[in-house]
Amino acid sequence: MKRLVVYYSLSGNTEEAAKKIAEALGADLLKLETVKKMPKSFAAQIIVGGGQVVFNHIPRLKPMDKDVIAYDEIILGSPIWNSKGVPAVNAFLRDRDAAEKVTSLFFLSAGGDTEKGLEAITKQLPNLRNSVSLLDRKSKGSEENGAKIASFTEKILNGK
Ligand SMILES: Cc1cc2nc3c(=O)[nH]c(=O)nc-3n(C[C@H](O)[C@H](O)[C@H](O)COP(=O)(O)O)c2cc1C
Repeated sequence: MKRLVVYYSLSGNTEEAAKKIAEALGADLLKLETVKKMPKSFAAQIIVGGGQVVFNHIPRLKPMDKDVIAYDEIILGSPIWNSKGVPAVNAFLRDRDAAEKVTSLFFLSAGGDTEKGLEAITKQLPNLRNSVSLLDRKSKGSEENGAKIASFTEKILNGK
């Protein structure tokens, strides 16, 4: 089984989880990057990123160095922005062949409600079987991320 972990991460939390998940699965990693950079300050990120979510902005992605179609299964990771998945992930899912390969999804949030985010992304993923909601390293409860990742990757390895 050839697996690819695809993710977007602005401040490193989703990246940290993506690396752990890829290691547990023996999977390759692909980081999504937008052509236009996000601002550096958190306040500006909230304004720009929040606005992009509200207006359903689909950003241009930098060229990817992996051929996603060559993989059997994709594990997708997204931070939660404004209770939804991020614009870069929505841009990636415009490729319907790639969207069909996604079986598993992991989210990073600061502790807000992830139900809406899950709903907005899952309707684009016809073959989704597993999902896990993880917490930002600054949030209470993030110490459980490791155990959640272990059970998430075990399900994937068992083909569930
Ligand atoms: C633009 C923006 C909007 C956000 N909106 C939410 C939100 O609605 N709910 C929440 O729990 N966290 C929200 N967060 C926090 C991130 O989901 C959280 O910090 C996550 O760990 C970031 O992942 P990253 O470090 O991989 O970028 C938001 C962060 C940003 C930058």
